[in-house]
Amino acid sequence: MQSVRTLVLATAKFGSKVQSLKASRQLRFSSTFSSTSGFRAVHSSEVKHQGPVAKPKDEEKQQVVLVNAIRDIDGSMITIGTSTGEQHQYPSVWLRDNCQCPKCFNTTMQSRTVDWKYFDINIKPTHVMAEENQLKLVWNDGHESDYDLNWLLERSFTENVRKEWMKQHYPMTRISWGTVDFNKILKKYDFNDILNSDATLLDWLENIATYGIALIDNTPPQEDQLRRVADRVGFIRRTQYGEEYMVKHQPGTSNLAYTSGNLQMHTDLPYYDYKPGINMLHCLVQTEGTGGENQVTDAMHVAEKLKREKPEVYKVLTETPVEWCDIGQESGYSFHSLYRTPVILNDSNGDFLRADYSQQQRDSHFSVPLDQVIPWYEAHAAFTEELYNPENTVYFKLKEREILVFDNIRLLHGRKGYEDKPSNTRHLVGSYVDWDVAYSRIRVLRKKLRGHIRSHLSSTPVQKCT
Ligand SMILES: [Fe+2]
Ligand SMILES: [Zn+2]
Repeated sequence: MQSVRTLVLATAKFGSKVQSLKASRQLRFSSTFSSTSGFRAVHSSEVKHQGPVAKPKDEEKQQVVLVNAIRDIDGSMITIGTSTGEQHQYPSVWLRDNCQCPKCFNTTMQSRTVDWKYFDINIKPTHVMAEENQLKLVWNDGHESDYDLNWLLERSFTENVRKEWMKQHYPMTRISWGTVDFNKILKKYDFNDILNSDATLLDWLENIATYGIALIDNTPPQEDQLRRVADRVGFIRRTQYGEEYMVKHQPGTSNLAYTSGNLQMHTDLPYYDYKPGINMLHCLVQTEGTGGENQVTDAMHVAEKLKREKPEVYKVLTETPVEWCDIGQESGYSFHSLYRTPVILNDSNGDFLRADYSQQQRDSHFSVPLDQVIPWYEAHAAFTEELYNPENTVYFKLKEREILVFDNIRLLHGRKGYEDKPSNTRHLVGSYVDWDVAYSRIRVLRKKLRGHIRSHLSSTPVQKCT
């Protein structure tokens, strides 16, 4: 917490109109706030025993109370103090931008309506007051605003609260894994439970978000069943291969996945800017002979290992753009897809965000300076070696009626070659759902089932798999 410069305590009284919004805001921002860690840790076992719209237990604890509110000498910063002795600072420009009055914020649409054409970023409050757990401000243009304490605390600029918010929302907690962890993290769900139980649907989605993989069993043996799962999440993602694509040997195909040969590790559609997030493969017919096993590796786990043990390799993989390409025709639609991005993409914190990798879809065009080409091949070889390292990769043969669900921008997948027979033609159906749609469903279900959108992993120490 920064020290506050010269402070002025103001005690202006407000008119009754600002009080009228109080009830509705308390409904909207009713989540509890722990003064020590920001948000409460909710253990998964506790969540499972809660009924619909369960209230967090600490809601019964004594609420934090707003004790005072002060502004600095030039009015650009407001500091509030609470009964726990904490102080939280808010820039005046942010407070005015986020005024919650009906003129500035539409609660029905949950949208800011402040007109920025006329917004003064130098606006200052002339009066500052703490009353009934609300910060109340009168601005130098006469406008009045008030803010509930819980609403303010959830939006505190302190590092703890910001970290907690980011951890839970952008995206969700992800835990990397290697071969030794696979049996522990792989969870199997029943098809009918996914379709009929919101609690199972949420658990399944959170499991994919956390570990990047899950299985569904007892799926009816028809080609259109993935659509039913996608509809439970939200809606299916269409690509140039359609909404449901048939993975089986197809003579004359424009995609290697539609052959029976060995399929090298890859992510699907690296040549798209907006890549499908969740990949689903429904096994209708498995080969009875040898081969046909699926292979998966958690690229996040491999990336973390390289970052730790071979930082120079990691740097090249994250900084050298590669061109991914797909040219062909599918169901009468001709396409030429092209996208340029590194094999490993980091977020703004330098942490793993996603992987793009496909030997079959990597273009021969490589538009980088000459001196970057050989170092990239060396780094790519080191990455590939780790992908196929038995410590990092797993093989398993899908059973008929099973659906393999995995994070397409985190896990790499491949398949061993096989041979069809006239009486036994291997047949899988594939479909995608976008992460935007899945995360949205997770938040909606968390709110519905738990009363808040925080993860069951919230604030609990996350032990990363080795
Ligand atoms: Fe694939
Ligand atoms: Zn307003």
